[in-house]
Amino acid sequence: MGIRLMVTGCKGQLGRAIYSLTEADKEYEYIGTDVEDLDITDTAAVIAYVDRIKPDVIVNCAAATNVDGCEKDEDTAFRINAIGPRNLAIASSRVGTKLIHISTDYVFPGDGEKPRTEFDPVGPKSAYGRSKLAGEEFVKQFAERWFILRTAWLYGEGKNFVRTMLSLAEKNDTVSVVDDQLGNPTSAMELARAVLSLIPTEDYGLYHATCDGICSWAEFTEEIFRLKGLSTKVEHISSAEYKKRFPASADRPAFSALENKMFALCGGYRFKNWKDAIAEYLG
Ligand SMILES: NC(=O)c1ccc[n+]([C@@H]2O[C@H](COP(=O)([O-])OP(=O)(O)OC[C@H]3O[C@@H](n4cnc5c(N)ncnc54)[C@H](OP(=O)(O)O)[C@@H]3O)[C@@H](O)[C@H]2O)c1
Repeated sequence: MGIRLMVTGCKGQLGRAIYSLTEADKEYEYIGTDVEDLDITDTAAVIAYVDRIKPDVIVNCAAATNVDGCEKDEDTAFRINAIGPRNLAIASSRVGTKLIHISTDYVFPGDGEKPRTEFDPVGPKSAYGRSKLAGEEFVKQFAERWFILRTAWLYGEGKNFVRTMLSLAEKNDTVSVVDDQLGNPTSAMELARAVLSLIPTEDYGLYHATCDGICSWAEFTEEIFRLKGLSTKVEHISSAEYKKRFPASADRPAFSALENKMFALCGGYRFKNWKDAIAEYLG
């Protein structure tokens, strides 16, 4: 029998990428759940489900990922991003299941000039970041065999920055994009490969998990348009200018790049460069 792999939030970007990599692979017995069949905020339901299914590993891809939405309703953000993983952690340790939980660059303040490693101090500045950090802490507290992967600027099958830019390019000759926020665009497919690489191991712990290389949102957009052969221009604007145009938006970190130090130390997965990953995605 294959590895019993339970994926929560299976309809999201990362959930879909994991499905596409494992569906035809006999090594895995894939069990996907999303909010309509298993709401991860429901403690009793999560425990009962995991007790019954007894997976070898749970990958928690479920989250409240709308940063502005989390700012408006912090309690809901905490319910999904903190209580949810707590429930999965409790349930996983009851049956000896490995838990792979996904977190974010937003646990950092997003300042400075050096990519943050797993050993740097955190300090979230947004409701989303605070709720995700609380989720990490619950996982460490209640799961026995845990991996936490912090990713950033994720794009896959679903609503994401790449799709938004491509749809803006359909209707506009010029698109305005901030050029003073830097990070690591990461494809859901690359993150899914990294997740699968950890499943058979006992290399538990906290990992930074982003594609290699750093760029601004404006540079990322230029690369997307270049790869698609679009002539749409990218107007570089500052975050201050963006905030003037969209005052309701939550503040975003200026420098949120991560360094995948743990993967390097453990001789683990090596992510593609962000340019190769976006080329694979659009190709
Ligand atoms: N997207 C990014 O740029 C980014 C950056 C850094 C880190 N991350 C992290 O990476 C992980 C995967 O992100 P993603 O972009 O794949 O997320 P996503 O596309 O937003 O998918 C999340 C999934 O979880 C579901 N969900 C929400 N509440 C739930 C609940 N209570 N119980 C069960 N399922 C629930 C969502 O359903 P609904 O759609 O119906 O709500 C959705 O299908 C998350 O942990 C996220 O925090 C993402």
